[in-house]
Amino acid sequence: MTRATGAPAAPQPASEARRATLETLRGRRSHSRVTEQAPSSAELAELVSAMSAVADHSGLRPWRLIEIRGDRRRILGEALAEAAGETTPEGEERYLGKAQRAPLVLAVVVCERESEKVPRWEQEAVAAGVAHYLGLLLHEAGWGSMWRTGVLARSAPLRRAHRLAKNEELMGWLYIGGIAEGQQRDKPRRPLDPAEHLSSL
Ligand SMILES: Cc1cc2nc3c(=O)[nH]c(=O)nc-3n(C[C@H](O)[C@H](O)[C@H](O)COP(=O)(O)O)c2cc1C
Repeated sequence: MTRATGAPAAPQPASEARRATLETLRGRRSHSRVTEQAPSSAELAELVSAMSAVADHSGLRPWRLIEIRGDRRRILGEALAEAAGETTPEGEERYLGKAQRAPLVLAVVVCERESEKVPRWEQEAVAAGVAHYLGLLLHEAGWGSMWRTGVLARSAPLRRAHRLAKNEELMGWLYIGGIAEGQQRDKPRRPLDPAEHLSSL
């Protein structure tokens, strides 16, 4: 983008780059089934570094992410089973299976900071922004992901399993992996009519 010195910034006419950005955004889909391939910690860290872009009242950065891979996913499965009160081997197996639906499970945690200006809900909005942006960047990088929560997400067994501090709560997990051949979700979405969501006062 070129800008004359001293001239105010003005919206630019639709460029190829902008069209591509809109296409990426419109084309994002969740993938409930993913392959055993996953982004490395270094690849993930690169995407996480872009989360400085999330709107964040007072710049509190009230969030953190926890990578859960390989056998560590059993800890998540066992905690889910405990939270659900499942004690039968079949029940436990079911929850272990849920925790292992993707090779990388990324827990999204809101870490409430003390602030007179920024209430808890605003801090959760920041953590939610991180989950949304990351899902979008993962999609753009060719990875499949799906944000999952469930009624057990804020239960004591899950808090313990993730070693959350008193000021922390789970926002859910991004289940991340590869997209198998033929599993791309390219069916167009239900069209969105801006007029139903956008009005003037
Ligand atoms: C905070 C949050 C929690 C979610 N939890 C679940 C969940 O537990 N189970 C589920 O099937 N979908 C859940 N979803 C919805 C999926 O992530 C996904 O958006 C939905 O399947 C629609 O697919 P799409 O993202 O391709 O439109 C959740 C979404 C959000 C934003």
